[in-house]
Amino acid sequence: MRAFAPGKVILLGEHAVVYGHPALAGALSCGVTVESEPGRGVLRVPSWGVEARASDPSALGRAYAAIVEAAGGALDVDLTARFDLPSGAGLGSSAALSVAIARVLGLDGKRLLDAAMAAENVFHGRASGIDHAVSAHGGFGLFTRADGLKPLRAAQPVPLVVGNSGRARDTQGRVARVAELAAQSPSETRARFDAIARLVERAAQAIAEARFGDLGAAMDENQRHLAALEVSCDEIEAMCSSARDAGAVGAKLTGGGGGGCVIALAPGREEAVRAAWTRAGWHSFVTTVGGAP
Ligand code: MEV
Repeated sequence: MRAFAPGKVILLGEHAVVYGHPALAGALSCGVTVESEPGRGVLRVPSWGVEARASDPSALGRAYAAIVEAAGGALDVDLTARFDLPSGAGLGSSAALSVAIARVLGLDGKRLLDAAMAAENVFHGRASGIDHAVSAHGGFGLFTRADGLKPLRAAQPVPLVVGNSGRARDTQGRVARVAELAAQSPSETRARFDAIARLVERAAQAIAEARFGDLGAAMDENQRHLAALEVSCDEIEAMCSSARDAGAVGAKLTGGGGGGCVIALAPGREEAVRAAWTRAGWHSFVTTVGGAP
C-alpha cells in the first residue's frame, strides 16, 4: 500500500491563524509518500536517518503513536516515508507525513484530520491545524480554526518562487514567542492580528481577480507585521530584499518562521529571483499554488 499527501504554502496569515484569524494557503504538488509492507510497526524516515516505534519517547515516536492509536492500535506493517520537498522549512512536511501515515493506515474524513491534528500537536505545540487541513484537502483555500479550510477559487494559479533560507524554521519557538508578546502587549498584538486578517481578505480578493500587484503588496505588508512579531530573521529579510530587487512584487516568509522558506511573487521574473538567490547561496524552486487539487 502507498499513500501521498502534499506539502503546503501559507501565502498570508501564519501565526495570526493560531488566534482564530483566517490564513490563505494552498497545496504544493510535492509532498510525502508513505509505503507499507508486512512488519511490526516500525516507521522509517530514511531522509531524516531515523526509525521510530509508537512506543518511542521521541517526538516522531509520540506523533506516530497518536496516529496508530486513532487507527485502532497494534500494527502488523512497517512504514517507509519519502519526502520530495524540503523538511524543516515551513512547507508543511510534518503534516504531510502525518496525513500520509494516517492515509496508508486506512483513516479518512474526520478521523484522518483528528489523527493528523494530534500528531501535529506533538511536533509543533499549539498548532492551528492549517498544515494538515491543506495537506488532507489539497487545492487552495482560506483556513480558520473554527471553520477549517474553505476552498477558494483563483482566477489562475499563483506562480511562486520558494527559497530555503538554510536556517531551520522554528515553528514551536516562534509560536511560543508570539504567545509571550500577546500576553505582554495584548492590544498591540491584537491590532497586528486584525491588520493581518484585513491583508488576508485583500489578498483573497486579489487572487480571485488575478491582481498580482495587489497580492504582492499585501504579502510585503504581512511580512512587516511578521517581523514586528519577531518571527523573521536576518536571512529571511535579506532574501525578501534580494527578491524585490530582482523584480518580485511581493516577498515574505511562509509558515512558522525563524528560518525556513521565503516565497516571492514575481510574475515573469521568477528566473531572475532564482538567479539572485542562487548567487547568494539560497536554494529555490519555482512552483504554482492553486492549480487543480
Ligand atoms: C505553521 O505552518 C503556521 C503557524 O501559523 C502555526 C500554525 O498555524 O499552527 C505559524
